Amino acid sequence: MSTVVNSRKVAVIGTGFVGSSSAFALMESGLFSEMILLDADQNRAEGEALDISHGLPFARPMKITAGTYDDLVDAAIIVITAGAGQKPGETRLDLVKKNVAIFRTIIGEIAKRNCQGILLIVANPVDILTYVALKLSGFPENRVFGSGTTLDTARLKYLLGERLSVDARSVHAWIIGEHGDSQIAAWSSANVSGVPLSDFCSMRGFTEHDQNMEDIAEDVKNSAYKIIEKKKATYYGVAVAVRRICEAIIRDEKSVLPVSSIQHGAFGIDGVALSMPAIVGKNGVEKQIPIKLSEKEQVELRKSADALKEVLKSIDL
Ligand SMILES: NC(=O)c1ccc[n+]([C@@H]2O[C@H](COP(=O)([O-])OP(=O)(O)OC[C@H]3O[C@@H](n4cnc5c(N)ncnc54)[C@H](O)[C@@H]3O)[C@@H](O)[C@H]2O)c1
Repeated sequence: MSTVVNSRKVAVIGTGFVGSSSAFALMESGLFSEMILLDADQNRAEGEALDISHGLPFARPMKITAGTYDDLVDAAIIVITAGAGQKPGETRLDLVKKNVAIFRTIIGEIAKRNCQGILLIVANPVDILTYVALKLSGFPENRVFGSGTTLDTARLKYLLGERLSVDARSVHAWIIGEHGDSQIAAWSSANVSGVPLSDFCSMRGFTEHDQNMEDIAEDVKNSAYKIIEKKKATYYGVAVAVRRICEAIIRDEKSVLPVSSIQHGAFGIDGVALSMPAIVGKNGVEKQIPIKLSEKEQVELRKSADALKEVLKSIDL
């Protein structure tokens, strides 16, 4: 039996730092008229539903409630943030075992209700969990994808915007591959409103391109570690990224976003989920866009895919 999807309904599973911040960002977005919050800690979900609801008189009307799996059956998007967070010094891949176990329960509950909405995976390691969610749900590939490097790409744009004194929205540059240590800054396609990045840098008086690019890519990669060291978790940046992805889906924008989805041969990469720019609209991931990459970037991307495949080998699905 298939369920009709309510395009005005979203669900957030896991209402810790990331889930509650995402729910708050989604409330403010005005995209939905109904939001279900679900957490293993029912009190937490209820508390967040109340707290976020109290902002509604300053936003747009919607119903925000703590619910059960039966309540999210017709949600257009199910955002999954449930899982343990990174501890200081812990890599995202260290989280695999804990969070795969949590996903077995959550995806099992969703799959047995034959939900027809999109599963947006946010919990880490997001590329691995996207693959796991896809396999465990049996849903079509376009409907199961991860936030991937959407956050890392935003960090890259922000840092470049600051350094070059230009609006970050005019910076077009991608972080691709793993949302993690093997991610790649795709410098060869980076530009500021069509002007190749190196030309724009020269215009702004920067000459040490290679060193500057290396420093910025390192800063992006280490952002999460740095924030976790200082305040134990990262959540506002990713919450806005979740809102942006939901907006592209609900408004059928066909925006190009660097989400994590299963790859099928581009650059020789197959059978693993990682981030490449893709067209995102009402059907989820509609088409992957294999951007132009230099030889070096292609080699790094394949290394990133190999690192993820190594992890997948340790999971019995
Ligand atoms: N993709 C990204 O860009 C990105 C960015 C930041 C954090 N994250 C990831 O998001 C995840 C959540 O981080 P956080 O800081 O919110 O952690 P958190 O510990 O604050 O919240 C996790 C929540 O999940 C709930 N939970 C655990 N098992 C559950 C289950 N079976 N069903 C329902 N709820 C369950 C917990 O009760 C808790 O409230 C982590 O994996 C973190 O690494 C991803």
